[in-house]
Amino acid sequence: MTERPPVLSVRGLSVRFLLPGGRRIAAVTDAHFDVAPGECLALIGESGCGKSVLASALLGLLPANAQTAGRALLGDLDLLTADERTLARTVRGRRIGLVPQSPAAHLTPVRTIRSQLEETVAELRGVRGRAALREAAEQAAERAAFPPDHLDRHPHELSGGLAQRAATALALVGGAPLLLADEPTTGLDRDLVDRTVDELRRHVDADGDRALLMITHDLAAAERVADRVAVMYAGRIVELADAQAFFGAQGPRHPYSRGLLEALPDRAFTPIPGLPPELGDLPDGCAFAPRCERTTGACTTLPLLTGSVACHHPVPAVTSEDIRA
Ligand SMILES: Nc1ncnc2c1ncn2[C@@H]1O[C@H](COP(=O)(O)OP(=O)(O)OP(=O)(O)O)[C@@H](O)[C@H]1O
Ligand code: SF4
Ligand SMILES: [Mg+2]
Repeated sequence: MTERPPVLSVRGLSVRFLLPGGRRIAAVTDAHFDVAPGECLALIGESGCGKSVLASALLGLLPANAQTAGRALLGDLDLLTADERTLARTVRGRRIGLVPQSPAAHLTPVRTIRSQLEETVAELRGVRGRAALREAAEQAAERAAFPPDHLDRHPHELSGGLAQRAATALALVGGAPLLLADEPTTGLDRDLVDRTVDELRRHVDADGDRALLMITHDLAAAERVADRVAVMYAGRIVELADAQAFFGAQGPRHPYSRGLLEALPDRAFTPIPGLPPELGDLPDGCAFAPRCERTTGACTTLPLLTGSVACHHPVPAVTSEDIRA
């Protein structure tokens, strides 16, 4: 059987912000990953490590002081070099459904959620006629657990959690092949987190050609729906792992990923000591070294992502015999 091409293929993606005075912020460095049809990849990592910048690069939404390098192929289209007209007309909403990290900023402030949903349903699905539009908008709201009695409200009249659900409803309307969800569960209680990520997963499963890239702080949500996990630290992807192995008996192999899991209240509840480095002043070697228990002299050389982990001394892989023992 021939393997189907990935929905998204990211190769050597880097983003630099140029600041006055010549300072450069290395927000994303040499990201390299695919998202396959039918797959959900969860991108995790501490605040400020470059997750949203990576998402903005894919959507052509970086500010003017950003420079990009590498490739990000969505089918034949390189998202990094596509012109704004192509991105606005054919990519955002149609080929990439976005659940933004700050939904309130992405919703149109002067229009009700109902009218925004109806407009999107008309534009992306070609639905016509008042009754049909109303019904399609209400179905879209229902999918994202957006309460029907709040449909006639404006974005400023919604809580953060409700704005989040409105944004999710809008992102699902177009049936885009790639869903890019940046913290889609912020401000939601556990039940709604589960319901939201399940709906994102269903969106992928409903059509074998779709894929989901979900950025999240919520490791329980990642464990619930992801097939693979990408861990980012100081702008680099340091581990790319099968989700079952990552959350299961194997556990993560990069010391930083281990630390993230061990910080969880239902695990060791031990925070990683220290703070991430400044992205404007990264060391030549491993950026995690000052916080790492496994560091040695070798770690002054940059570890590259070979196989699934970018580390000179990864936690050993467990074998099936170790698991049985
Ligand atoms: N326009 C900009 N100019 C300079 N630096 C920027 C700009 N936008 C983002 N950054 C920096 O890029 C880095 C990565 O930011 P990003 O928003 O991607 O983090 P994140 O991983 O999404 O964090 P969070 O989990 O808090 O959302 C941060 O250090 C941020 O300050
Ligand atoms: S390369 Fe060295 S410092 Fe970096 S995570 Fe691995 S062991 Fe720790
Ligand atoms: Mg972010």
